[in-house]
Amino acid sequence: MIYKASDRRYKNMIYNNIGKSGLKLPAVSLGLWHNFGSVDTFENAKLMVFKAFDLGITHFDLANNYGPIPGSAESTFGKILKEHLQAYRDEMVISTKAGYLMWDGPYGDGSSRKYLISSLDQSLKRMGLDYVDIFYSHRHDPNTPIEETMMALDQIVRSGKALYAGISNYGAEATKESIKILNDLGTPLLIHQHKYSMFARVLEEGTEKVLQKNDVGCIAFSPLAQGILTDKYFKGIPQGSRAEKTTGFLQKEQITNNLLQKAEQLNRIAQMRGQSLAQLALAWVLKNPVVDSVLIGASSSEQIEQNVDMLKNHILSLEEEEQIEKILKD
Ligand SMILES: NC(=O)c1ccc[n+]([C@@H]2O[C@H](COP(=O)([O-])OP(=O)(O)OC[C@H]3O[C@@H](n4cnc5c(N)ncnc54)[C@H](OP(=O)(O)O)[C@@H]3O)[C@@H](O)[C@H]2O)c1
Repeated sequence: MIYKASDRRYKNMIYNNIGKSGLKLPAVSLGLWHNFGSVDTFENAKLMVFKAFDLGITHFDLANNYGPIPGSAESTFGKILKEHLQAYRDEMVISTKAGYLMWDGPYGDGSSRKYLISSLDQSLKRMGLDYVDIFYSHRHDPNTPIEETMMALDQIVRSGKALYAGISNYGAEATKESIKILNDLGTPLLIHQHKYSMFARVLEEGTEKVLQKNDVGCIAFSPLAQGILTDKYFKGIPQGSRAEKTTGFLQKEQITNNLLQKAEQLNRIAQMRGQSLAQLALAWVLKNPVVDSVLIGASSSEQIEQNVDMLKNHILSLEEEEQIEKILKD
């Protein structure tokens, strides 16, 4: 089967400028953390990438360790790119990261120059790419001077192996420092990839202000709290869901009664708006002015379709915002 992208792919997506840069990202981006590994069905992975691209999702987010096995999501994506999407490479923003454990020994973890640069070389090979669009330091490593990590990002961008530099999972102080060092080096920080959802609001505790003040972009990961902010767990843990799979990062214990009760109340607001809870949860994340893109995960093309459809009804009224806030604070 030869894939041809939909001619309508740019009709309905919203594209937002990222910080001070000229780069735009789609309001909805697709992450390949789950369901793209060697344990997953290649055909389904391929259909999800096609569906996303057809809906205007130009941004695909990876990391060296996504799988399982670690690295296999990049290999899957590389295969899809090579077989079907080569003609569209310049219409895509592809990101990867390094920061968590990837290989044995002292050089396969953390944020040293040694690890970041060799890991990116491996990622490029797995994906069959000459460069990625965004390369992230996946976490702040207290055992590496932050200057070294930022100098590695600067070197990576100058070498042409990435077009932009990003950080992820950095706290407010480390973010502030990174911005300053990268500015001094002449490779401004493009974007911070931060966890953010109705159930995870640490972003609001300081980092949000730093990003706003410095006009740095923000992409919000796990906006559906890995699926808890959908209706799927209302009647138990369904077969094939992330919490049910042994390879999933969502533990059953994380789906507490308290969260489920809140999710059910939020679902009532979603129903009044004529949308699904997943759609309401995404709209809520997008309403934060610091957020440029919601970075979703998916296990099917239908989920991607439903999630992008949220853009048809993504503005919340003041009253709805207040009702949501009350549910979350109770
Ligand atoms: N920088 C970091 O440290 C970091 C950490 C985590 C994630 N990320 C990035 O963020 C991306 C997204 O994270 P995430 O997968 O946790 O995001 P998420 O959007 O919160 O959760 C995705 C899961 O929610 C369920 N889902 C999605 N749409 C649905 C719908 N319409 N109806 C019902 N269920 C739906 C699916 O679960 P089922 O599989 O159960 O169907 C899907 O796998 C990752 O792929 C990765 O790129 C980055």
